Amino acid sequence: MTDKKGRILTGDRPTGRLHLGHYVGTLQNRVKLQEDYEVFLLIADYHALTTHPEKPDVVATRQNALDVVMDNYAVGIDPTQTIQYMQSDVPETAELTLLFLMLATVPRLQRVPTLKDVMQNLEIEEPSIGLLSYPVLQAADILIVKGNLVPVGKDQASHIEITREIARRFNFRFEVDVFPEPDPMIPEEAPTLVGIDGMAKMSKSLGNAIMLSDDEKTVREKIMQMYTDPNRLRKTDPGTVEGNPLFIYHDLFNPDTEQVADFKDRYRKGQIGDVECKKVLAEKINAFLDPIRERRRELEEHPDDAIDILRSGAAKARPIAQETVAQAREAMGLTSILTDSLIELYRR
Ligand code: TRP
Repeated sequence: MTDKKGRILTGDRPTGRLHLGHYVGTLQNRVKLQEDYEVFLLIADYHALTTHPEKPDVVATRQNALDVVMDNYAVGIDPTQTIQYMQSDVPETAELTLLFLMLATVPRLQRVPTLKDVMQNLEIEEPSIGLLSYPVLQAADILIVKGNLVPVGKDQASHIEITREIARRFNFRFEVDVFPEPDPMIPEEAPTLVGIDGMAKMSKSLGNAIMLSDDEKTVREKIMQMYTDPNRLRKTDPGTVEGNPLFIYHDLFNPDTEQVADFKDRYRKGQIGDVECKKVLAEKINAFLDPIRERRRELEEHPDDAIDILRSGAAKARPIAQETVAQAREAMGLTSILTDSLIELYRR
């Protein structure tokens, strides 16, 4: 464990099956990071409560979590390297959140930009205290394992800033050095994959996603419907390659770079049809997804193994979390009055 460069913690709310956009945006990176860092990957079911507290939604996070575990495994997140767990299986996170709530002010949390965004998107007029303290819960996730690095999208930068403030304030107030100030790891040019409808972002809820678990036929059908150059009516019309989803995907998923260059050249000159480019693209994406589907099947056939990934992840994360909470309580003077030493103190 110690030959690694540092400790990473990252996580996602359990929204269900993952798609190619997740692969390009985060999964690919996480698969690489696990080689060099000690990676903690959590499924943030407590965070899901902040916007979806109703029981059926909470119950659904259980199935969603298993889908996420299967997709992660399928793309190469290695359970022997990455410690993956359900947030609520490390309930010490909730205790640390409570302690941290004394270090964050209401106006500071009200200014966190994601709060306004979520309230707008979900038409929430008055945020619950849970939603307001979303970033404090996130700080507890990170600091409970003393993560040094947090790979996130740039929308999450403000939460990492809150985490740093809480770590600093805790250490300062209690004159200790319990919590490291973590650094965000934000990808330079956020690699957001366009949807197959040409919309800015691939997203399951927009219905423009190719899921990692889609079968060959579904992939073919989706690619054949893909939005391309809207101004090109006939295959003899010169087409535009730049910003065209067809070629964005070819660049990402067709390893035959000579073929891609040739297609682009002929597309610009009006010498190749969309259909031909799409057929080849569907084949390439299917070739890319084949081994992923195959690995996913291993866990689909043995769902207990998926659960075991989370079980062993929690078994590794929890003692670390317990140790950190004990250190925090000790630093604060919040030790148990039931211990012998304190009884001695009273007797004297
Ligand atoms: N808030 C993150 C998101 O919505 C998910 C998350 C929860 C997280 N806990 C975390 C990310 C800790 C990084 C570290 O994407």
